[in-house]
Formats: sequence, structure tokens, C-alpha cells
Amino acid sequence: MNIAVLGYGTVGSGVVEIINNRGKDLMNKKMSENLFVKYILEIRDFPDDKNKEKFTKNFEDIIRDHEISVVVETIGGINPAFDFTSRCLSAGKHVVTSNKELVAEKGLELLELAKKNNVNFLFEASVGGGIPILRPLSVCLAANNIRSINGILNGTTNFILTKMISDNMSFETALKIAQKKGYAEKDPTADVEGHDACRKICILAALAFGNHIYPKDVHSEGITKIMLEDVAYAASYNSVIKLIGTAQQLNNGQLYILVSPAIVNKTSQLASVDDVFNAILVDGDATDEVLFYGKGAGKFPTASAVVADVIDACNHTDKRRLIGWGPEKKGVIVDYKTIKNQYYVRLRVFDSFQILPTIKANLGDIHLLSRSGATTLELAFITNEYTETELIDKIENIKGAELKSLIRVAKC
Ligand code: HSE
Repeated sequence: MNIAVLGYGTVGSGVVEIINNRGKDLMNKKMSENLFVKYILEIRDFPDDKNKEKFTKNFEDIIRDHEISVVVETIGGINPAFDFTSRCLSAGKHVVTSNKELVAEKGLELLELAKKNNVNFLFEASVGGGIPILRPLSVCLAANNIRSINGILNGTTNFILTKMISDNMSFETALKIAQKKGYAEKDPTADVEGHDACRKICILAALAFGNHIYPKDVHSEGITKIMLEDVAYAASYNSVIKLIGTAQQLNNGQLYILVSPAIVNKTSQLASVDDVFNAILVDGDATDEVLFYGKGAGKFPTASAVVADVIDACNHTDKRRLIGWGPEKKGVIVDYKTIKNQYYVRLRVFDSFQILPTIKANLGDIHLLSRSGATTLELAFITNEYTETELIDKIENIKGAELKSLIRVAKC
């Protein structure tokens, strides 16, 4: 079976390497034919690459070749990935992608196009890297009403936070290491500002709840404002700071979906998920909690999920795999600002002892936190449950206190 790979970056080159090394074995174990990479579409030159005879800069070579029935898209981003993917599906070719932006933004259109042309559009690698999650969620947990999904969905930010927590390392140094290791997106803003995790929670929520969820409708916050002081205060509360993607079905059927840093108690299963590892905690009404854990980024973990989809597509060239969702449901996502939560708050104050009675008068019971090296110009605490708007209003009313940090306390 000949396939084409679009894009020879971290994931694409991993896919080619796995297939080159294992393509023949797969025939005996998983497939009826050898798997072989015939084309690699790439605009950059790789003159010394051992696959150099496979390279083409012309997409038409691939679309016109009837020997190619499965195409891997690992270019990333929307353009030209969307155009190439649409053309492949329209031409009756199955497409496998690791591109979460493409799936989160254009998944519905591509799933419908795949259906119309009786081919498969598969995207296991788009969430959780090497962790099997999309098939288990939509197939193995199909008997459940999913109550919630909470996950650490971005390897780069989890790596950075782990370095900040364990090694007291600066954000910038940790990000550089993550980029060197090939975890980060081309533009790491998508990682550190939470956009990548947002795309992934949108895909998980669409699969779990049945309707397309667009990233523009989901509030996401990144980790760029987290300071080492916050890490230290969290530690004094037996907690760590993690970037959590959450999707919950409320009693009225609305969905609460959010990506934000969260104070996670060390007793949570998500607290010990470190470095590039991701974990996704799915709560089903029949199963209760099920945890999926593994490497969420990197060349081979992600390529592993892509190649598995390629094998599935090759083994089902005449049968559709039913993994997908329907159109968006307007108004289904609740305004995150109306949901009550406990918060971690760090304030800059004129004098922590003098201001404390005013803070208690405004916020009621608070749980004070401590860290070594703190001065009386700083105060950090955990609040009772408030909506974000209520809490910010109350803090703004306290004279002599400036809000420096506000982080949700996780419920998972
Ligand atoms: N940049 C992404 C991450 C890659 O760090 O998780 C995998 O999706």
C-alpha cells in the first residue's frame, strides 16, 4: 500500500521513519500489504536526506496518482492543509492528520466531505500525542453519558510548569528546552497562551457531546503570567499549578468548556503528570473516572498515533470509521464568567497585616498562604466560591490592594 506524507516536520519525518523501519513487519502483523511511503510533499529542500527520491514540491503528483489511496497531513495550520485535505477527500483518498487546528476549526466540513466521498478522515494524533484517546472516547466509552473531561493537553506548557515547579527554572529557559526537544508548535504562542490546549478540548468535547465546538467560543488562558511566587504558594497548599482543559455537561444540558491554569491538589490524579506527559480524565455515568496517560507531544509518540490511523485506513479502504460529530449547537456553551469556583489570589498590598480585616470583610473566609521570602507587601490566599466577575469586583473595591494573580482551584 503506497501512501503520501504532506509535510516533513517533526511529526511527518517521524511517520516516514516508522513506516520505513516497520512497513514490512506491519504486513505480517496488522495489514495484508506492505506499507510504503511513495511521496513526501515538502517545500523545503533536504538534499542529504535518505528519503530524497520521495520528495516532491508538487501536490498534483499526489492527487493524480491512483496508487495513493491514503494521504497523511502533517503540515499543520489551516492553509494549505485544509485545501490539500479537501482535495484528497474529494478525490476519494482517505486522509490521516495530526493537525488539531485543522480538526478543531474545519473538522465538521472535512467529516462531511469524507462522508460524501465514502472515505475516512482520521485524526487520533490531534489530541494527546501518543495516547489512544479519541477512539477509546468515541468507541470504548460509547455506552456512557460523558459527564466531564479534564485534561493536561499540552506537553510544552506541562514541561515548562514542571521545570518551574521542580527546578525553580525560569519560564523562558524552560520554553527554549521544550522547543529544542521538538514539543512546541512552530509559533510557541499557541502553546503558552493555551490555544493548542483549547483546540484539543474542543475536539474532545465535540466527540463526547456530539456537536462541533469552535475554539473562538471557548475561553482560554495561558501560563505566561504564572510566576515562581505562585508556584511556591501553591506548594504551601499541597498543590501544583497545571494548565487544565475542562469540558463539563451541566444539569441543564449546557456545556462549560474552558482552558486555564489551575491549582491542582496533589491528591488529584492529574497533579503527578509531569514533563511532556499529558493525561485526560474522562468521567462517564457508567464507568465513573477513566484516566488516559502518556506522552502528549514529540516526534515518535505523535507519529505512532498517525501510523495507527494509516493502518486503520488501509485496512478499511471500503468501509467508513464512524468517528465524528454533527454541526454546532448555538448557545450550548455557557459563559464561563457565570460559573462559581474557588480561586487562588495574590495581591500586592501596602501592608498585609493592616489590610487583612478589610479583605476578610469583603471576601468572607479566606485561607491564607505562605512562602519563604514573602514580604508584608504581598498577600496570597484561597477564596470561597465566587464567579470571576463577583470576585474581581470585590477585589477592586479593596483600597490599597492590587491584583497580581488569579488562578482557579481545580475540581478534578
Ligand atoms: N505543541 C504541542 C504540545 C504538540 O506541546 O502539546 C502536540 O500537540
